[in-house]
Amino acid sequence: MDLDTRLENVAVLGAAGKMGSGIALLLAQEMARQKLKPENKDRTYVLHLVDVNQEALTGLMGYLRTQLTKAAEKSAVSLRDLYAGRADLVENYDIIAAFVDDSISVARPSTTLETLKGAKLVFEAIIEDKGIKFDVLRKIDALCGPETYYFTNTSSIPIGVLDEGAGLGGRIIGYHFYNPPAVQRLLELITTKSTQPDLVKMGGDIAKRLGKKVFPANDIAGFIGNGHFMRDILHATSEVKRLMSEESMTEAEAVYVVNKVSQDLLVRPMGIFQLIDYVGVDVCRFIMMVMTEHIDGETLKDDLLERLAAKGVLGGQYASGAQKDGVLKYDGGRVAGVYDLSKGGYALFAEGDWTKKLDEKIGAYPAGHAAWRALLMDPAKDDKLSTYFKALSTTDTLGAKLARGTLVRSKEIGERLVSDGVASSVDVVNGVIVNGFYHLYGPVNEYAELMIDKVGGTR
Ligand SMILES: NC(=O)c1ccc[n+]([C@@H]2O[C@H](COP(=O)([O-])OP(=O)(O)OC[C@H]3O[C@@H](n4cnc5c(N)ncnc54)[C@H](O)[C@@H]3O)[C@@H](O)[C@H]2O)c1
Repeated sequence: MDLDTRLENVAVLGAAGKMGSGIALLLAQEMARQKLKPENKDRTYVLHLVDVNQEALTGLMGYLRTQLTKAAEKSAVSLRDLYAGRADLVENYDIIAAFVDDSISVARPSTTLETLKGAKLVFEAIIEDKGIKFDVLRKIDALCGPETYYFTNTSSIPIGVLDEGAGLGGRIIGYHFYNPPAVQRLLELITTKSTQPDLVKMGGDIAKRLGKKVFPANDIAGFIGNGHFMRDILHATSEVKRLMSEESMTEAEAVYVVNKVSQDLLVRPMGIFQLIDYVGVDVCRFIMMVMTEHIDGETLKDDLLERLAAKGVLGGQYASGAQKDGVLKYDGGRVAGVYDLSKGGYALFAEGDWTKKLDEKIGAYPAGHAAWRALLMDPAKDDKLSTYFKALSTTDTLGAKLARGTLVRSKEIGERLVSDGVASSVDVVNGVIVNGFYHLYGPVNEYAELMIDKVGGTR
C-alpha cells in the first residue's frame, strides 16, 4: 500500500500529550494538504486522535485550532496554490480560515481504541511504560490488521523489544520526534534487524513531508540524543560531588556553578540542570532506568536526581509551555534560584551575595567568549568558537577547568555511541546534538582535542 493511500487513515495515540499534540498538528496539516489536491477529491481523510484523558482531548482541539492558525499565517502565500480553484477565497485571512477548517475537519478525537479500526499509520506517543505500550499496540493490531505500520516516539525503550512484546513482526520503527515536535526539525529514525524495508523508506518519506531532518540510529536504548544527554547529566552530577569535596561548596552552590559553566563557558543554549528541568527530572530518571535495564554492563543512575524526585522537585512544563520549577527556580522563564535539598527550599540568586562569590570562583571568561545567542546566527561563529576554545584551553580558572573536563567527556560519549554501534558515524552523533539540542558544535570536535592532555585531575 503506498504512502498516499495510508495517509487517508492515520492515528495518533496519546494525542493530547506533549508529544502527541505536536505530532497531531503536523499530521493534520499534511493530511489537509493531501485532501486539497484535485486528484484526491474522491478520497476521505481521517486522523484519529486517541487519548485516555477526555479533558485533555477537549483542550487538544483548541490547541490545534490556535496552532494551525499560526502555522497557516506563516504560509498563507503557499496555501494560495492549494485553493487556486476557490474564487470565493480572496483575502489571506479567507485562505487561512479555510486551511484551518480543512485541517480540523480530518481530526476525530476519541477516548476508545475501537474507533481507530482501519488506521494504516499509527503514531504512538503514550506514556513511556513498556507494559502499557505492549498492551495498547497489541490491541490496535488486532483491530487494524497486518498491513498497519507503527511509529513509536519512545525515548528509550528498544524498538525490537516493543516489536516483540506487541507481536508486530517488523511493522514498527522508532520515530523519535524532539520536543516540541512541530518546531524541532530533528527526527531520530530507529530501525531493527526485523524492520520491514518498505516501512523504513516510508518513514523517510513521511519525515520529508513533515519537514523533518532524519538521523538514523540503531536500536540501543536511549538511542543517540538521550544516549549522549543522560551520560552528560551523569558527568555534571559527578562534577557537583567533586566541587563539594574539593572546593568545599554546598550542593546547591555546586549545582549553580556546573549549570553556569555548562551554559556560558561551553556556549550552549542552556545549562545542564536547566535542560534537565526542561525535559523533567522524573523523565530523565526514567530514561536512565530503561537504559540500565537494556544496556549490559552500565548503570545509569544518579543520586542527586533520585533525592530531588523523592522531594517532588520535578521540573517539566505546564500545558502552556511555561517552565515549572525543578532543580532550578524560574522567574519569567529566567533562572532565579537553585533547590537546596538541605533546606527543602530554593536558594534565590537575589538573596545575598552567594552567587557573586561563586562567579568569582568560576573566574573571568577566556578571551573571545560570546554567548550562545550572540553566535547562533553569526556567519563567523566557527572561527570565533575556534579562537575562544583555544583561549579556554590555556585559561587557568575553575570555570575553564570544568568546561575542559566536560568537553572531553562529551567527546568520549559521542565516540562511544559510534563504537557501541548506536550511531553509524561521529557526523551522525554531531548532527543529532546540533539539530536536536541546538548546540553550536557537535560533541566530537577539534576543540575537545585541544583539552585532552589538560584535563588531568579536573574530571
Ligand atoms: N516529552 C519529551 O520531551 C519527549 C521527547 C521525545 C519523546 N518522548 C516520548 O513520547 C512519549 C510521550 O511522552 P510525552 O512527554 O508526550 O508524555 P505526556 O504524558 O505528555 O503524554 C502522554 C499522553 O498519553 C496519554 N495516554 C496514557 N496512556 C494511554 C493509553 N493507554 N491510551 C491512550 N492514551 C494514553 C496520556 O493521557 C497523555 O495525554 C513517551 O514515550 C516519551 O518517552 C517524550
